[in-house]
Amino acid sequence: MTVFEDVESQVRSYCRSWPVVFDTAKGSRITDVDGKSYLDFFAGAGALNYGHNPPALKKPLIEYLTRDGITHGLDMYTTAKGEFLSTFQEVVLAPRGLDYKVQFPGPTGANTVESALKLARKITGRESIINFTNAFHGMTLGALSVTGNSMKRGGAGIPLVHATPMPFDNYFDGTVPDFLWLDKLLQDSGSGLNEPAAVIVETVQGEGGLNPARIEWLQGLDALCKRHDILLICDDVQMGVGRTGPFFSFEIAGIQPDIVCLSKSISGYGLPMALTLIKPEYDQWGPGEHNGTFRGNNPAFVTATAALNTYWRDDELERSTIAKGEKAHAALAELAEASQTVELTPKGRGLARGLSFPQPELAAKVCAAAFERGLLMETAGPDDEVMKMLPALTITDAELDEGLAIVGESLRAVTEGVRS
Ligand SMILES: Cc1ncc(COP(=O)(O)O)c(C=O)c1O
Repeated sequence: MTVFEDVESQVRSYCRSWPVVFDTAKGSRITDVDGKSYLDFFAGAGALNYGHNPPALKKPLIEYLTRDGITHGLDMYTTAKGEFLSTFQEVVLAPRGLDYKVQFPGPTGANTVESALKLARKITGRESIINFTNAFHGMTLGALSVTGNSMKRGGAGIPLVHATPMPFDNYFDGTVPDFLWLDKLLQDSGSGLNEPAAVIVETVQGEGGLNPARIEWLQGLDALCKRHDILLICDDVQMGVGRTGPFFSFEIAGIQPDIVCLSKSISGYGLPMALTLIKPEYDQWGPGEHNGTFRGNNPAFVTATAALNTYWRDDELERSTIAKGEKAHAALAELAEASQTVELTPKGRGLARGLSFPQPELAAKVCAAAFERGLLMETAGPDDEVMKMLPALTITDAELDEGLAIVGESLRAVTEGVRS
């Protein structure tokens, strides 16, 4: 273990919560070098929605590598990219009546967010972006400028500008009508608000603490953007690819954002890949205007195609994710109800679920207690006050029950001695 402490930068983070060396993984289990197996309620922070090394994706990947298929292809035309694009069109876009051009912006979530912000500015000729309280969009400067968390913003080292934060849904606990402030500022020529190019939103704020926006709030936002001629960007990097049930998390609101950001689980195998989906009339890029060496990660295209063919040709995964999410919510609600010492609030949507603690440090303590009992979970929220569960969507019912039982035990172990 000392090689990590000796050589790796202080910036390392997850490994501090889980100080073991992991070696192999399959499905919802990850195993360390001593052979101890952990149930994974972290799923690569949402990059492993189909679990570790899913066989239906591994087989075509191995075959592709064995036949010396192109690995690195910039934005050259390749068979792997062509197959991905036609499968994405056929399996995801067409059945949902969605018409988007597909941009490969570079392989991370921050890359797709940067491309979305740049494109919105180019299309509208405006600079300013509206973002929301507790949003998280990535760690590069543009993405950070629309991110809420003060610790992450502080890392920029320069002023983060050209973004105006507005209250996310329920920011005032339902006491203020939706968009009261934003709508008024947009209507008032004396408000001083710079005319925005776009609004960027997560339908469920993942890193921000598992805050789901209500369907009517999302619909209201869509209508407000249309009314004021502002582009709507949905950052579906964490909540897309089925995390909340449907392929896109915005489907439940019946809206069609102008630009959609996808990454994390789109390759299905944990291989880096990102997409920016653009309504055709807004695809106003010049050739190479947003570039990047790693836009053509062809092994990721191979696994992404296999994932769409395996999991998205019917609605089985969507329905089971919703059912498992409801089961997880019921278990968390029961724990909250039973807690005598701490007031717990269940949060989330689909299979992004968690518990919020009034004393933030308890969330990390419960995650640490869970780790001792063989379960990986992380925290979220501005003060890390939310215990966050992101199991693989392919987790079995038995594994989900096992993990929820560990959550209960860990919670009791931590909270029993706490005074209310
Ligand atoms: C909603 C959202 N957008 C963007 C990102 C940034 O993705 P990446 O870490 O791949 O740059 C994340 C990462 O957690 C995210 O949750």
